Amino acid sequence: MKALVTGGAGFIGSHLVRRLLNEGNEVIVVDNFTLGTQERVDQFSNNPNYKFYKIDIDKTEEFCDALKNEQIDIVYHLAANSDIQKGGKNPSVDYGDTFMTTYSVLELMRRNNIKNLFFSSTSAIYGDEHGKLMTEDLGGLEPISYYGGAKYASEGFISSYTHMNDFNTMIFRFPNVIGPSLTHGVIFDFKKKLEKNPKELEILGDGTQTKPYVYVLDLIDAIMMMTKEIPSGINVYNIGVETATSVTTIADIVCEELGYKDVKYKYTGGNIGWKGDVPKFQFDLTKIHNAGWRASHTSDEAVRETVRHIK
Ligand SMILES: NC(=O)c1ccc[n+]([C@@H]2O[C@H](COP(=O)([O-])OP(=O)(O)OC[C@H]3O[C@@H](n4cnc5c(N)ncnc54)[C@H](O)[C@@H]3O)[C@@H](O)[C@H]2O)c1
Repeated sequence: MKALVTGGAGFIGSHLVRRLLNEGNEVIVVDNFTLGTQERVDQFSNNPNYKFYKIDIDKTEEFCDALKNEQIDIVYHLAANSDIQKGGKNPSVDYGDTFMTTYSVLELMRRNNIKNLFFSSTSAIYGDEHGKLMTEDLGGLEPISYYGGAKYASEGFISSYTHMNDFNTMIFRFPNVIGPSLTHGVIFDFKKKLEKNPKELEILGDGTQTKPYVYVLDLIDAIMMMTKEIPSGINVYNIGVETATSVTTIADIVCEELGYKDVKYKYTGGNIGWKGDVPKFQFDLTKIHNAGWRASHTSDEAVRETVRHIK
């Protein structure tokens, strides 16, 4: 099978590329290194089944032109802006990197008659549901960040292209994903802050924000399992863990694992970390559990394992 992985130089994408290559597939990666890195993909460069294109995917014509002669069986679309706070300061970041990259992928598929799509969506499309059970068929969603809006708009466009062009589409809505080679997010921020000041740690919000963290290798298992043969039409799954971890617990685990003692936590206050942040949520995971996948790490275990890798 020949797979195209957009955003393959990123955190999750590079794990997926490794797994696809290990299972004997041909893999094309497209990335522009805005957030991904050359080092992440250097490890694949000697593999004859691996090919890399450095392209801005949001530039639709350039992207489609570069790939027009590739016979692709499936697209794993992971390219997006993952720096939520950068996107929060400038809506054009998510319009370009999160929404327009999706449009370009859909155009490539339409023009080249590619039928299979995996899309990495997010819990952020649900917005702040205030304790409602977040099932895949929940309607009337109101995303509260530009990132969530751009992913929700992407899901809408994906739905229309899927129906107009008979695609087989698998959409996963991820919660926070963590694990080896992570370079952004709360764990990483805490580590950097503690290196600067080992006695005091600034925590955004009041520390009670509590979210499920899924371990990246568990997620890759789910992606591989559910994209072996994608049923026709749109297939949407929440992905995650049944447990969740508060920001203060993350701080405790980071300090414990990295050997920082007697650290004073300084909370910035309020119940959110930043505008657009959803402080508490929990997915309904019945659908993916019934399909035969369950995460092997709890949320706290995923946090601890990630800190050990970062160490
Ligand atoms: N990590 C998480 O917690 C999380 C949670 C929910 C959803 N997701 C989604 O999963 C996917 C992968 O996330 P990640 O954490 O690996 O992020 P990442 O930033 O590490 O990877 C995204 C990759 O996309 C590339 N990219 C961005 N815009 C591009 C463009 N215009 N042209 C070409 N390449 C471009 C970046 O350089 C980067 O390598 C994203 O779609 C993200 O929205 C991630």
